[in-house]
Amino acid sequence: MNRLPNSLGVAASADRIVLLDDRDQLADLRRQTAAAPTMMLGDGSNVLFVDDFRGTVVLNRLSGVNVLEQDARNCLIEAAAGESWDGLVRWACDRGFWGLENLALIPGRVGAAPIQNIGAYGVELKGSCLAVEVLDEDGKLRWLDAEHCNFGYRDSLFKHTGASLWVTALRLRLSRTASPNLSYAGLAEALAEHHPDELTPTLIADAVRQIRRSKLPDPAVLGNAGSFFKNPTLPSDQVRALQDRYPQLPAWPVSESRVKISAAWLIEQAGWKGHRNGDAGVAPGHALVLVNHGQASGAQLWALARAMADDVWARFGVRLETEPRVIGGA
Ligand code: EPU
Repeated sequence: MNRLPNSLGVAASADRIVLLDDRDQLADLRRQTAAAPTMMLGDGSNVLFVDDFRGTVVLNRLSGVNVLEQDARNCLIEAAAGESWDGLVRWACDRGFWGLENLALIPGRVGAAPIQNIGAYGVELKGSCLAVEVLDEDGKLRWLDAEHCNFGYRDSLFKHTGASLWVTALRLRLSRTASPNLSYAGLAEALAEHHPDELTPTLIADAVRQIRRSKLPDPAVLGNAGSFFKNPTLPSDQVRALQDRYPQLPAWPVSESRVKISAAWLIEQAGWKGHRNGDAGVAPGHALVLVNHGQASGAQLWALARAMADDVWARFGVRLETEPRVIGGA
């Protein structure tokens, strides 16, 4: 059985699964898969398979992390797409390189990071990403500068190019001088006992790991794909009207005219937190996280997600957008 890895723990298969662990395979693989639908997958930590994948899945296991340049202030590193993301964070922290520590313990591999511009605790990948290497449809490897990657909130060019660009490596600029980002209140609180001069990337990464473990279920124990919905960004007027009715609604301005609101809060108010229907459920500890208690199918999880989104729409007039990639389920 060609069972596909996925952190939601859903049974799903592909017609063919190929392991990519050598850059020399790239051009050939591109040619072989040109005719059929193809999908690149790391650990499947941000995907819901509602249906099996009718085509070839390429499991990216390209490895290697290197320092390309460094001076007293900065360093430029390159990481292959198949490396573990959290492994890369540890590698950087161990060397005293700043910039990735707030992104500790995000599941998945390096190649998935630019696709949704991973972010947590006040930091996004785009803050350190200089360029993304891709294999294009003609089988050519090229580097795309970050400014051409259209990074946005849980968004990028790669979310919209489907299988036409395969991410093969990232170049990141990290800092060698202290640059802690404690803008997330919970993180600042967790580190409040430390003098600012004592802070190290490892200390911050460990605090982030603790916060994540306290809020988010471990996919190795309870299947999940992190936040299942994005936090909606709405016109300020609409948020003001919502806050007149719901003064507790958490909201953060993102520009002069737009405000981000908490999807978790809306879902919790609608009564879905901890809900369970068979093995498909919502995490008891965080309303944004769909969980698989055992044998839930992709279709069951997708039905639950749609019921939640429909209910939030009916109650609050706010549309929830799915964060992970959803395969099938039309
Ligand atoms: N909240 C609730 N109910 C809940 C959970 C949270 O009302 O069940 C409220 C909290 O009280 C808080 C607000 O929602 O006021 C925000 O909660 P939290 O700090 O947990 O963050 P989030 O907005 O729910 C986002 C990201 C996470 C990231 C955290 C921390 C999205 C979709 N999710 O979650 O990213 O770790 O912020 O920066 O933006 C992911 O993308 O998979 C992910 C886990």
